[in-house]
Amino acid sequence: MSHLTEFPLARPAGCPFDPPAALTELRAEEPVARMTYPGGHEGWVVTGFAEARTVLADQRFSSRQELLRMPYRMPGMDELPEMPPAAVGDMTGIDAPEHTRFRKLLVGSFTVRRMRQLTERVAQVTAEHLAAMRELGPEVDLVEAFAHPVPAVMICELLGVPYEDRDTFQRYVTLLFSADAPAEERYEGIVKLQEYVGQLVVAKRAEPTDDLFSDLTATDLTDEELAGVGSLLLAAGLDTTANQIALGSYVLLRQPEQIPLLLNDPDAAVEELLRYLTITHTNVRTALEDVEIGGQVIRAGETVTLSLQAANRDPLRFDNPDELDLTRSAIGHLTFGHGIHQCLGQQLARVEMRVSMPALFTAFPTLRLAGEPTLRPGHQSIYGVQSLPVSWEETR
Ligand code: HEM
Repeated sequence: MSHLTEFPLARPAGCPFDPPAALTELRAEEPVARMTYPGGHEGWVVTGFAEARTVLADQRFSSRQELLRMPYRMPGMDELPEMPPAAVGDMTGIDAPEHTRFRKLLVGSFTVRRMRQLTERVAQVTAEHLAAMRELGPEVDLVEAFAHPVPAVMICELLGVPYEDRDTFQRYVTLLFSADAPAEERYEGIVKLQEYVGQLVVAKRAEPTDDLFSDLTATDLTDEELAGVGSLLLAAGLDTTANQIALGSYVLLRQPEQIPLLLNDPDAAVEELLRYLTITHTNVRTALEDVEIGGQVIRAGETVTLSLQAANRDPLRFDNPDELDLTRSAIGHLTFGHGIHQCLGQQLARVEMRVSMPALFTAFPTLRLAGEPTLRPGHQSIYGVQSLPVSWEETR
């Protein structure tokens, strides 16, 4: 019987897109295996696709933050803090029925139809940033010039957050997601972001504008709940798609023969990039009662760490899973999670990627890497690229 004594995070040398080798080996041997957590808890790690999906679909596995244990210790964190309950409005860290209330209020604003209506605006914002990038070039950091600002403008417009305040709220979001900042600083990031969003929603209550935050002030959510859920939406909208666009561009620049396939069928290509890169590599749940999964009995109170990246590379689910194949049908991958907490912003993310990525490679057909990118460390909850130097040949 396999037993991990620590959750592996280091990516294999040579391919920064692959899951840690220990997780790949474990999936073949024992897709539901025991793991000792930092602090001594005896819990589980799930690496198989079917098993991970089953856990996510089963509400006997809780998302309540106060029940979870961290599968890995963050650098600089000597003491493992007891997890506090989720902040008010943080719907990711609560279960039904409390979770259902938030979900019902938000789901109508993020439907496929609503997000497709944004296609034209994403195209405009993309074109503006590509033009600005050309002016800056012929060598830029693609993260700063393109991958970060395009989703940032979109989420600001959707929520009703002034883009001019970007430096302020971006600082708080960077802090709260930071893998290496001390716990107090991360906490300060959350508090400051909530204060910022809190002030915004109070202003919207007094004088509504045409955006989601204003719409939400017409619901039964309190100001505190609005600040919490608004902060979650803003942070998720800023930090996820930007990393997916940047990391996706990096992998394509390393395998440029794939770029025509992206241009030919952006929908399929984006889905495969989501599966292959699985930037949301890890998820955690705790059993509320004894449950059997993959032949193992997980006891009430035990924490289960789901390696979404290992699951998305499971050969039992995807043929040649370690190959980036932009023509395959990768639909059904677990990058957006599964079950009641499945990503609320996934259609927005898809529209942003399907529009912006082909536009980038069409506008800059000679785009190439101009140095080593700085990759995020494995222990950062969302994987990605911090900076990505690129250059192109001027054609004018
Ligand atoms: C490539 C981009 C994205 C990825 C890979 C991603 C991934 C995920 C995953 C894995 C979850 C499930 C967490 C869990 O089960 O505990 C989630 C939830 C969530 N995501 Fe995303 N996300 C992305 C973009 C976005 C965007 C743009 C938004 C902004 C609106 C967003 C908002 C949310 C929210 C509000 C939740 C919580 C849903 C709930 O608890 O019911 N995400 N996301």
